Amino acid sequence: MPHRPYVIDQMISAKAISARVEALSHEITAHFKGTNKLIVVGLLRGSFVFIADLVRELDLPVEVDFLEASSYGDAMSSSREVRILKDLRGEIAGRDVLVVEDIVDTGFTLSHVVRLLKSREPKRLEVCVLLDKPSRREVDIKATWTGFQIPDEFVVGYGIDFAQRNRNLPYIGKVRFTD
Ligand code: PRP
Repeated sequence: MPHRPYVIDQMISAKAISARVEALSHEITAHFKGTNKLIVVGLLRGSFVFIADLVRELDLPVEVDFLEASSYGDAMSSSREVRILKDLRGEIAGRDVLVVEDIVDTGFTLSHVVRLLKSREPKRLEVCVLLDKPSRREVDIKATWTGFQIPDEFVVGYGIDFAQRNRNLPYIGKVRFTD
């Protein structure tokens, strides 16, 4: 289906993201200080840029792993089912784990993933999300660390897509339709 024409207006600059990532990484480093290994779990695909920047700022021994949950596309039903398309490569039992996500919207994806990973009995499990849209929340889930709270706008960039495009923008922008 052809897309409606749109432009992207910058919402959070690359510089502002970078400063926030640095501050978050300091808090995360302090929280997990002394760990023998932190397993940083990125949720594919949207978190790939954020996790890449975040792990390079962490002053901790880090292992990186990825997990992919199903996308439910544009469906707006509240009985959304989340499926795991790609599971972790490693074990997390007894380990320190940080889940890294690009955006929390309804909360279905994150709450499902957190429940799943906690069932594997990690020693500690915390969550870091870059963007939070609290006005959209349907499931009660709160990240340990949040980069930015944003209004209910259609955002792209810094890993986040619109129909698989615009993930490579260095900033967060909002989509504005021009038709
Ligand atoms: C997006 C985003 C979160 C999820 C948030 O993923 O990356 O994982 O939706 O929505 P929720 O809070 O309503 O569950 P998407 O399914 O678009 O996949 P992607 O990460 O591969 O872009």
